Parts: sequence; structure tokens; C-alpha cells
Amino acid sequence: MKNKFITFEGIDGSGKSLQIEMLADYLSELGEKILVVREPGTTVIGEHVRNILMDKKNNTMSYKTEALLFMAARAQLMQEKIIPALENNYTVICDRFIDSSVVYQGIGRGLGEKFIKELNKFVTENIEPDITFFLDISPQNAWLRKIGVQTSDRFESENINFHQKIYLGYKKLIVENPNRIICIDANVSPEEIHTQIVNATKEKIKTLLLI
Ligand code: TMP
Repeated sequence: MKNKFITFEGIDGSGKSLQIEMLADYLSELGEKILVVREPGTTVIGEHVRNILMDKKNNTMSYKTEALLFMAARAQLMQEKIIPALENNYTVICDRFIDSSVVYQGIGRGLGEKFIKELNKFVTENIEPDITFFLDISPQNAWLRKIGVQTSDRFESENINFHQKIYLGYKKLIVENPNRIICIDANVSPEEIHTQIVNATKEKIKTLLLI
């Protein structure tokens, strides 16, 4: 088995996109077939759902609706992109996945981790990432990074207490999933973050015997 399923997680503003791009380039240069996807989105249906979820005008959306829309986008992404790619020996890198629902909807919105994990299982058919990178930056630092950037969506507009809850939620998941989730210090330069990710990927691959 050569394919890997790698996910990236973090609070808003943790710098996932750049690191995903850098890891994808690194693995491509090693000759791996790479598929990069993002949640919610990537599929046509998923991108429609993303627009509904992110739109600040949708401020009457119930938390249950929100959770189910994320699940709907995920179900489509699994069926249309992730499962076929893994079956065809692609390494899949996904920007956010099941852990985002557990922390944002389960913990942040208070719907309960257990309930969200059950929904996740139904949607993913129990497929879990081999490696999850959590880019660790405090909500305060993430907020400082975003000063002057005008991209406030429904989640970014939440107050600091919400983001603090999300951050602590991720910390809890790291403790509960020590073999899967790798915590990366994201307070350093992009190159240093990338080096940590590459080293951890190599280590993890060895232990998983994926190559
Ligand atoms: P992004 O800005 O990293 O693309 O993520 C979109 C937002 O959606 C981000 O604030 C986290 C949130 N989100 C959830 O609340 N639940 C989920 O299941 C996912 C995938 C994202």
C-alpha cells in the first residue's frame, strides 16, 4: 500500500493552505500521485454547500443544519474524489476533515462529540486519515496574523471565546489520538513548519509501513 490519506487541521488563520501546497509539491517531486482537496468543497455540490455555510447573511442557520451541511459536503467528497483517489494509489491531502466537525460542531456549537463522531462514521464509511497535522497557533496569534485581511466569513466572525473553545477542543483530540494527530508548532516561519511536517511524514510512513 503506497497511498496515504493526510489531513490538515487548525483554527482559522493557522496557515494550512500554504503548508498543504508545500507538502503536495514535496511529495509530487518524490514521484507520488497527489490529490489535494478541501472541506467543505472541492466537488461542485460541495462548493455550493460551502457558499451556504460561509455566507454571513445566513445568520439564522441552526447548529444542526450547519452540522448536516458539513456532513453532506463530506459525503459527496468521499464518494466523488477521496475514495476513488485512494483506490487508484493517490496520496490524498485534505484541508480539514472529520476533526473539524468534532471540534467546531461537537464542541464549539455544543452538539456533542459522540453524536458528531457517529455522523462522521456514517459519512466516511469509517475511513480515517493515516496522518493528521494540527498546526498549533494560539487564537490570539492567529487573530494578529489576520489584521488587515478582509475575509471574514460566518466562522471567522465568531468571537475569540469561540476560537479559544475550538483550540482547546483540538488539544483534547490530540491527546485522544496520539497515533494519528501530530501537533506542529506553527508559530515559526513557513519553511520551518514545512520541515517539521516533512520529518513527521517520513517518520509516520516508516511506522505505518506505507512504503
Ligand atoms: P477553511 O476556512 O479552513 O476553509 O474552513 C472553513 C470553515 O468551516 C472554518 O471556519 C472551519 C469550519 N468547519 C466546520 O465548522 N466544520 C467542518 O466540519 C469543517 C470541514 C469546517
